[in-house]
Amino acid sequence: MKLMKVAKTAVALSGLALATVFTAGSATAEQTLTLAQISEGFDPQRTYTQSCGACHNSGAAGAPRLGNADDWTSRLEKGRDVLLENTINGYNNIMPPKGMCFTCSDDELAAVLDYILENSAE
Ligand code: HEC
Repeated sequence: MKLMKVAKTAVALSGLALATVFTAGSATAEQTLTLAQISEGFDPQRTYTQSCGACHNSGAAGAPRLGNADDWTSRLEKGRDVLLENTINGYNNIMPPKGMCFTCSDDELAAVLDYILENSAE
C-alpha cells in the first residue's frame, strides 16, 4: 500500500512537470490550469450520474432537470459564471456545495455544468 502511494505521488509530480513545460511553451495559462485541475480519465457524464442525477434527473426539491430547456433557460440568464459559482458554493440552502462531488475540482465541476447545459439546450 505504501509503495502505491509513493507511485501515485510520482505520477502527480510528473503531471506538474508537464504543466510547467506547457507554461514555458506556447500554451496559455488557462490551458495549463485545465491540464493541472482535471484529473486523467475524468468523465463529466459519469460524475453527473453519480453526484447530480439523484436530484437533477427527477427535479427533486425543484432542481432544474437535465434535458429540460425550460428549467435551464431562466437559470442561464444569470450567466454561466454565476451558475458555476452556485454549483461550487451551493445555492439557496438546498443545492448542496459542489453538488456533493467533494472530490471534484472547480474545473471538473465546470465540466459537469457544461455537460448539463449542453444536454439541456432547446
Ligand atoms: C441533493 C440534491 C442535489 C444534488 C445532489 C445536486 N443538486 Fe444542483 N440543485 C438542486 C436544487 C434543489 C436546485 C434548485 C435550487 C433553487 O433554485 O432553489 C439546484 C440548482 C442547481 C443549479 C442552478 C443554480 C442557480 O444559480 O440557479 C446548478 C447549476 C446545479 N444545481 C448544478 C449541480 C451539479 C453540477 C451537481 C452535481 C455535481 C448538482 N447540482 C447536484 C439540488 C441538487
